[in-house]
Amino acid sequence: MNHGIKLTQNIFWVGVNDRRTHLFENLWPLDKGISYNAYLIRDKKNALIDTMEIGHEESYFDAIDEILDSGETVDYLIINHMEPDHSGALKLITQRYPDITLVGNRNTFKFVRGFFGDFEHILEVEEGDTLNLGNHSLTFVMTPMLHWPETMMTLETKTQILFTGDVFGSFGTLDGVLFDDEADLAVWEPEQRRYYSNIVGKYVKQTQRALEKLKKVDVKIFAPTHGLIWRRNPGHIVNLYDRWSRLEGDKGVVIVYGSMYGRTERMAEYISRELILAGIRDVIVYDASKTHLSYILSDIWKYGGLIIGSPAYNNGLFPPVEALTTKLEQLHIKNRLLALFGTATWSGGGVKNLHCFAETTKLELIHPTHEAKYRPLENDYTICREIAQNMALRLLNSEF
Ligand code: FEO
Repeated sequence: MNHGIKLTQNIFWVGVNDRRTHLFENLWPLDKGISYNAYLIRDKKNALIDTMEIGHEESYFDAIDEILDSGETVDYLIINHMEPDHSGALKLITQRYPDITLVGNRNTFKFVRGFFGDFEHILEVEEGDTLNLGNHSLTFVMTPMLHWPETMMTLETKTQILFTGDVFGSFGTLDGVLFDDEADLAVWEPEQRRYYSNIVGKYVKQTQRALEKLKKVDVKIFAPTHGLIWRRNPGHIVNLYDRWSRLEGDKGVVIVYGSMYGRTERMAEYISRELILAGIRDVIVYDASKTHLSYILSDIWKYGGLIIGSPAYNNGLFPPVEALTTKLEQLHIKNRLLALFGTATWSGGGVKNLHCFAETTKLELIHPTHEAKYRPLENDYTICREIAQNMALRLLNSEF
């Protein structure tokens, strides 16, 4: 995309789109790519906000060069986040601009030293500290564990632009668009939610704390490190983050199953139909062996009902289902109505471990767990119907 797109007269986007990387953090699929957003404030003192993933530095440097006059330097590098998708070009920047001062908090510099070694010019800032650039002034807002220990945001107080780091970010490249008023927000929302649930979702309390802090600031524009810049309606993404971090779910159900030979799958199919008959309109069924965890998590973040099925496998859970339940435990999933089912042939172990998942997460079970022996028979389908009806009743009467 074009370089140096203006947010205001003297604040520029100097980011890049990445359509080559297959997996973000070598984990999460990037079917629609991702953008690494960085920014340049041009003033008496020039300041860069973040760098980018190594491998994209040529485009980044070209963008800076197109904005600055020949011989003009960059005085500050503001480091909102040290994850390498934003700090990758840090050392190269210091080589390009040897007098540049790195700006971060105490934790930032632990990461800087750990990743890159010591630097001569550093400025350690705390909550509320200000840095004057001339006509612009920066104030620093600490947002630890969103989603790393050192994460912070930077507010430019003349324009009230808040550079938010990963918060309010998204998967997906900026295909010609840069701002929310240029984009179809309904198209963007699934990738924004997938990004939140996959990357930031473990830190819902910290998200709520940050949203409380932001209520006291009159922000005109949110400028995150990935995805759209919010200038027409910043409240839109705030509302989504509020909902996602409260785990408020829509009145729909995600059914995830593992199945080797189709018997657990048949129970999932039966439950899905009975949910529709019981009045649920949004039912999403996933085969855990087929769909990447990333997308399943995103829909679990969307809907209030969760039903998981697994056969026994080596006296435990079917591995793709185990990967899901383990991840959900790590993310401290809450506020979901839960039902569990499965199949066993000899000594079982799938449903027993699903029950352990319910105990660990303390999610509310809306029906006793059920395990069919060998293959589901009429009595098993009757119980599947009860599971669906209980789930529908609870969801439709819930206050989500
Ligand atoms: Fe976009 Fe946490 O890095």
